[in-house]
Amino acid sequence: MNHASQARADTSMMMVVHRAFLRDLGLMSEEVGRPVAHSGRRRRLLASRWRHFRRCLELHHVAEDTKLWPLLLARADEADREEVRELEAEHALLDPLLTATSAAFDDFAAGRGGAPQHVVELLHEMRDLLVRHLKHEESLLPMMADHVSPGEWEAFVEPQRRADSPASSRWFLLWLLEDAPAPARHRLLSRRTPVERLMLKRFWEPLHSRRLRATFDRVHGNLGG
Ligand SMILES: [Fe+2]
Repeated sequence: MNHASQARADTSMMMVVHRAFLRDLGLMSEEVGRPVAHSGRRRRLLASRWRHFRRCLELHHVAEDTKLWPLLLARADEADREEVRELEAEHALLDPLLTATSAAFDDFAAGRGGAPQHVVELLHEMRDLLVRHLKHEESLLPMMADHVSPGEWEAFVEPQRRADSPASSRWFLLWLLEDAPAPARHRLLSRRTPVERLMLKRFWEPLHSRRLRATFDRVHGNLGG
């Protein structure tokens, strides 16, 4: 099926999510690698940040694997199907690295010697893999929009927005809002109810901002100030 003559799916939020992944890997490796003795609280906050990062990445990849790739594998031509199979394989390459990094962050949170260097090495390795993977994926976004309708794209985004609990859905949103450009911020907030927007502004964003400043020495984005 080709939807090129109809309204096209807006794939721009994919870039916002991807940028947030790379931002986090940079922030975490910079903070863990600082030549200081991190407090126990800072170490636990960083390990918690990692767990949230991993959850967001897994939600995103599972949504791609189960909602997006099957549509493309059914509709694209053979050359593009081969590209999609490569994207799938790149996801699988990340899995052992995620497991190893979680174990290294557990050691870091517990204050075990050598853990900071190990965490930083793994985060750098993941960043290298993810940079290549995301670049590859982004080069295929126009092809994806050719084959996936706006409604189908929405069905791919929805499980990520809903996440696996209200708390994890809220985290995903706050995490994206940290440094989302104004149009993306507007779009993300427009999907929430007026009550949710009010709660975010009055309560959740200030709380998230405090946690952010307690986690990283170098603050960033909209919520860092
Ligand atoms: Fe993606």
